[in-house]
Amino acid sequence: MGRWATGVSIVTAREFDRDAGLTVNALLSVSLAPPSVLVSLTRDADTTPLIERSGHFAVSFLAADQRAVSERFARALPSEEKFQELRVHRGPAGLALIDGSLAAIECRVVSKTPAYDHLLLLGEVVYQEEGREAPPLLFFRSGYGEETGGGLVRFPPPAPPP
Ligand SMILES: Cc1cc2nc3c(=O)[nH]c(=O)nc-3n(C[C@H](O)[C@H](O)[C@H](O)COP(=O)(O)O)c2cc1C
Repeated sequence: MGRWATGVSIVTAREFDRDAGLTVNALLSVSLAPPSVLVSLTRDADTTPLIERSGHFAVSFLAADQRAVSERFARALPSEEKFQELRVHRGPAGLALIDGSLAAIECRVVSKTPAYDHLLLLGEVVYQEEGREAPPLLFFRSGYGEETGGGLVRFPPPAPPP
């Protein structure tokens, strides 16, 4: 899957007054009527049970200059630290949407399917917004794309043959 290039998103959830979130690239557009998306979340993540209990999640689609946000949300940090000094706004469902993202959605969980050590969560989009016009953050071969000027993006070099 390292050879599959993706965008990068932050999936957030909220239970009572507590926000949680993680970096996600296992994200799939499922249907248009109604709009729905699927995310595959590890059961080990703190955010996963919180989404199961609350029944909602949000997705913020990251721009190229938000790499630090992706790195922060991919670490096993207490959720308060992930959101410290991070600028967010709230959708109608109250979920944290990352400021400066390309777009964001809020979803109501309509199905949960166990998949080995992951959980597939199908979410019906209940709110959507467009954000900044900016290049996307890209992920390929376990690394982020870096702009090299003139619209070109460089990725980590291939691993040497064994
Ligand atoms: C680029 C990237 C993409 C990721 N995609 C996923 C994903 O699709 N599903 C998942 O469960 N974890 C994914 N992760 C790992 C989680 O972000 C990581 O396990 C995180 O620490 C979980 O946070 P939490 O325990 O606070 O919820 C990804 C990490 C990176 C760097």
